[in-house]
Amino acid sequence: MALLPILCYPHPRLHTVAKPVQVVDTRIKTLITDMLETMYDAKGIGLAATQVDIHERLVVIDTSDERNQPLVLINPEIVWASPDKILNEEGCLSVPGIYDGVERFTSVHVKALDGEGVSRVIQAEELLAVCVQHEMDHLLGKVFVEYLSPLKRNRIKTKMIKLQRDEKLEGKR
Ligand code: NI
Repeated sequence: MALLPILCYPHPRLHTVAKPVQVVDTRIKTLITDMLETMYDAKGIGLAATQVDIHERLVVIDTSDERNQPLVLINPEIVWASPDKILNEEGCLSVPGIYDGVERFTSVHVKALDGEGVSRVIQAEELLAVCVQHEMDHLLGKVFVEYLSPLKRNRIKTKMIKLQRDEKLEGKR
């Protein structure tokens, strides 16, 4: 088990489009274990492989209050989306401290392989549905702040760059 470093916005590799996982082997299983550990450690409800600089279609999610219901989606595809949408306040481990409203489908059905490589269809609603859509965006190289106005996005970008510079200076002391 290992904690993986998380790329922070506006890191250019967050915009990489992930490739499908070819085979669910021990390498992928180790990656799943490490990503779950990293997500729980960072107190996130979802993490995409893109965020840990691995550009393969894999996400881990846990929206349970008890933090004991890990969901693994490999090569996820939305096969159905509800006609209605919800506006939800989103955050992201790659954009620490920033929360803003994004509109998403209220419910989606997602076809994906689980952590054992078995194909399943998951029916996700509300928070889980939002989380699935947020994480799947990461696999397409999209960060949630890209839904916000250019003005807001630029402010966030400036803030993140400053934060990362301050952290670097902090580390040198
Ligand atoms: Ni995110």
